[in-house]
Amino acid sequence: MTTVKFTAMKDGDKDDYEFLTAHEIDYAAKTGERLLDALVQLDEGLSGYKITRLGHSLQAATRAWRDGADTDWIACALLHDIGDIHAPYNHDEYAAAILKPFVREQCTWVVEKHGDFQRLYYAHHLGGNPHARDRFAGHAYFDDCDQFCERWDQSSFDPDYETLPIDFFRPLVLEVFARKAYDPAMIRAGERVPLVDPAIARTRTGASA
Ligand SMILES: [Fe+2]
Ligand SMILES: [Fe+2]
Repeated sequence: MTTVKFTAMKDGDKDDYEFLTAHEIDYAAKTGERLLDALVQLDEGLSGYKITRLGHSLQAATRAWRDGADTDWIACALLHDIGDIHAPYNHDEYAAAILKPFVREQCTWVVEKHGDFQRLYYAHHLGGNPHARDRFAGHAYFDDCDQFCERWDQSSFDPDYETLPIDFFRPLVLEVFARKAYDPAMIRAGERVPLVDPAIARTRTGASA
């Protein structure tokens, strides 16, 4: 059997659908690799800044890593703009949808809302509302999104910053997307993990206390 027998889904039988399920599991296992490829494609995206979108993504992830952030935060910093290619008007929601089955709820929320929080830094220059984020005031993850944007997103357009290469983050991305989807032990609903861990940051950067 190399393909299913049906041409309309309602005509498929148990064998067809068991065959497809095996294929889907195989395909899903390579999600991390496909996302890394997509990240490289970001290099051709959106010009005008001093660095490319890939450079921005790597720089955000590098800052997260140097801050002592955990795996979920680093993966989210790296992939937060992955939606730029296909969803220029809701790139934040697009990225959040990709990450949602595999990372902490806190991180998904932050990625999903980061577009509104980023407006704080520029919308007033364009006659827009820099306080769009205020509609989330009081939300449990509000301050986390504020920190994410301040520390890792708005700051990561510096061509002189020492940014780590994509291969550095490859094992981390593969690990995250090899997780069991929607595993409550990974989603950790309601749990807040700080973005910055000074002790881990020191071990990573070699800085003294
Ligand atoms: Fe963004
Ligand atoms: Fe960004």
